[in-house]
Amino acid sequence: MIRGILMVTPEYYDVTYAINPHMKNSDGSLKKVDKMKATREWGELTKAFLEIGIPIKIINGVKNLPDMVFAANQTFPLLDGSFVLSNMSNPERAEEIEYFKNFLHGEGLRYHELNFGKYSFEGMGDAIWHPKKRLVWGGHGFRTDLEAYDILEDHFNLDIIPLKLKREEFYHLDTCLVPIDSATALFVESAFDKESLVKLQHGFENLIPIPEDEALKNFAGNAFCPDGHHVVMQSGSKKTMKLLGQLGLEVLEVETSEFIKGGGSVFCLKGMYF
Ligand code: ARG
Repeated sequence: MIRGILMVTPEYYDVTYAINPHMKNSDGSLKKVDKMKATREWGELTKAFLEIGIPIKIINGVKNLPDMVFAANQTFPLLDGSFVLSNMSNPERAEEIEYFKNFLHGEGLRYHELNFGKYSFEGMGDAIWHPKKRLVWGGHGFRTDLEAYDILEDHFNLDIIPLKLKREEFYHLDTCLVPIDSATALFVESAFDKESLVKLQHGFENLIPIPEDEALKNFAGNAFCPDGHHVVMQSGSKKTMKLLGQLGLEVLEVETSEFIKGGGSVFCLKGMYF
């Protein structure tokens, strides 16, 4: 159902400020990124996507925008092939949107620039399509404001179910919800408030909890299943791998440890288009 993904080259990726708890060490200092390693990891990730047959459009990274490499956040893809541009919640990332806009324009792709006003919206970091349905799950509480979903629903023919995130380690919905197919998803239980858990239980017949330690350390909740069959995820999450194996899914493990220092892994590192 997805046609391809968007990625941003990693040459300017770094941790130079902390806007989520993963970016800091326990003593409050910033995590130190091994840039060579990050570049290698990014390359391996592109290979994994190509191996399972997903076309990639590549946007050049921009100096002084160290988080732009997390390409899930700047846009939200609509089913008609167009994109909604985000309204980033942190000033450190606000400029990234202009570069995405120029890229889409240059590619002849359609985009919508909504007036979100004071409300922030962080694209596919928080707004995630339910596989094979005209339905969107909308995380809010940290980066995206609930009101942004009203604005989106008013503009487009969309059905959005808001989910309230309650733990700052899981500040984006894509850190704690992994839709697999229309009936199945993995999720991190402690990331959601009670009401949201009920909504998820109604939305997915098989809702499978991810062990919390693997979600925190390894970003297991940031795995990406593009086609209901393959799952690309950070390596080392044995328990989650076993759960995915029991579902008959084929897992591709990749190394994204340098990007986890920035607060993101596989799902965060790519935008998507239909
Ligand atoms: N440092 C980035 C930020 O805090 C990481 C973004 C990760 N992206 C995601 N979709 N969870 O904004």
